[in-house]
Amino acid sequence: MSFPKDRPRRLRLTPGIRRMVRETSLSVDDLIYPMFVVEGNGAKETVESMPGVFRFSADVLVKEAREVADLGIPAVLLFGIPDEKDPEGSSAYKRSGVVQVAVKTLKDALPDLVVITDVCLCEYTDHGHCGLIKNRGEVDNDATLELLARTALSHVRAGADMVAPSDMMDGRVGRIREALDESGYINVPIMSYAAKYCSNFYGPFREAAESAPQFGDRKSYQMDPPNVREAVREVVMDIGEGADIVMVKPALAYLDVISLVRDLVDCPVAAYNVSGEYSMVKAAAEKGWINESAVMMELLTSIKRAGADLILTYFAPDAARLIRKGEGF
Ligand code: PBG
Repeated sequence: MSFPKDRPRRLRLTPGIRRMVRETSLSVDDLIYPMFVVEGNGAKETVESMPGVFRFSADVLVKEAREVADLGIPAVLLFGIPDEKDPEGSSAYKRSGVVQVAVKTLKDALPDLVVITDVCLCEYTDHGHCGLIKNRGEVDNDATLELLARTALSHVRAGADMVAPSDMMDGRVGRIREALDESGYINVPIMSYAAKYCSNFYGPFREAAESAPQFGDRKSYQMDPPNVREAVREVVMDIGEGADIVMVKPALAYLDVISLVRDLVDCPVAAYNVSGEYSMVKAAAEKGWINESAVMMELLTSIKRAGADLILTYFAPDAARLIRKGEGF
């Protein structure tokens, strides 16, 4: 009778040994919490397709963000939903715009919380595209760059610690870097949505942010899901233009991209666990088909294992609570 000598199970038999040999652990420090902000006062609006996610006015946002900070989460990412939309998305770069006011209010109240702003036009344009529209309905790359740079600069002037362009126009990281540097903000980092795919998993977000395109789709600027070499090209280009952190988005259907990018670059890699990924877990849990918190921890840990240093996720507060109780991996 011969017995196997190599027995991986020896190192799985007790919780203590499992803890010792665990290769990946999710930390509260890895989390970034995306939050939606609306104009006005006293607002806390539900988002039907994203249970547990709300749209807050700046005053309420501060209270919520304080809880986020108290959980040890280092950063939030802000999305603005303005009252007024127009073809040029002009409320995106207004000094008194919804995000600008929210950033200032947040930084005054919670100076240590890292406030990152999403830089894009789609929540601000009446047509819902991420850039300016030319006559024939095309998105005009180069004319959009100027508006993105103005938007980023206005966020930083309001006090944002970092800007995150999510529009996918070519050259926007370089143009934003130039605009920030020219105004003296040489130390404000850019987290670029470098490999952002044209994904169907953004559906619930577009309800939350009222940013669905009114015609056509985003296929001419966001990446084609079957491609991976193109992700390398986008990442290398953004770093060359001055990106400090590069992001892969979405996360779960793109773990191979996260892993590849992690091997390729030296800068921090972020991954966005997007709205559809969140809502699927919520919906299945509501039906009683999965254990929500266990599935959440497994998914977030998998994103980390794939190579993400930072994870943007609507689960951030729930995950932080579990990690603090020692109930993570
Ligand atoms: C704006 C933007 C989107 C998301 C982040 N920034 C939507 C889109 O590109 O259509 C998606 C986030 C999510 O689904 O959670 N361009």
